[in-house]
Amino acid sequence: MKIGFLQMRSRFGEVKSNVKKAISLLNKVSDATIVLPELFNTGYLFKNQAELAALAESVQGGYTVGEMKKIAKKQHLNLIFGMAQKSGRNIFNSAVYVSQKGKVDVYQKVHLFDREKLFFTPGRSTRVVTDGKAKFGMMICFDWMFPEMARVLTLQGANILVHPANLILPWGQNAMKVRSIENGVFSVTANRVGIEKRGTMSLSFTGESQIVSPRGEVLVSAGDRSEVLKVIDINIEEADNKNINSANNLLSDRVPSIYAPIARRSVK
Ligand code: ACM
Repeated sequence: MKIGFLQMRSRFGEVKSNVKKAISLLNKVSDATIVLPELFNTGYLFKNQAELAALAESVQGGYTVGEMKKIAKKQHLNLIFGMAQKSGRNIFNSAVYVSQKGKVDVYQKVHLFDREKLFFTPGRSTRVVTDGKAKFGMMICFDWMFPEMARVLTLQGANILVHPANLILPWGQNAMKVRSIENGVFSVTANRVGIEKRGTMSLSFTGESQIVSPRGEVLVSAGDRSEVLKVIDINIEEADNKNINSANNLLSDRVPSIYAPIARRSVK
């Protein structure tokens, strides 16, 4: 299967021009699954709740999902992209999956980072989306910090982690190599590049988007500066083999009877 990422720069608040730019780049590819960054349409540094509420969209009938559905159909693409999702009284930091056939699925970010906690409602469930042999385990950015997330997605059948991101800390890309190794799955991180300044706040996004094999090899990566669209061919069945050698299997060697503290909220 063909899988790729679109690493891009977004301008805060300029939803239409961010979406148009992504679409003009996506017009250059076909018959592939492409992952885009977290909050690619709005930008990241919301000053307050009102600003977020003004930029968030619903998935059903919203502008961004509508435009992404059109390009997905035209170019035979499956797309996974981050956006601020209005849902009833809540706003989620979401990853939306749009298939070339018009199927839509949503994952709402569970592990909110820093000021996101001021404005977004955290998601409270995982999501694995199936497309033929591909089972996409949905993650967003800071979810990389919690190995439980990738492990649960793997146990739920994911064979490829799709990871829209606005990475700021320097460890996310390396951690995703480990998430791939410890779960025997592919991973695709689509990161932003550029600096976002809002008043006294400023963030620099680290780029270095990547696709990683189930053995932790970086199959393709981008630099830390430029907008890049990369697509490669992978054999998704490589993720079926969870054997490390003739004696060890990374799923059946687990010992859940000693892992109970992971499922408890308290920290001792
Ligand atoms: C992040 O989760 N956007 C760092």
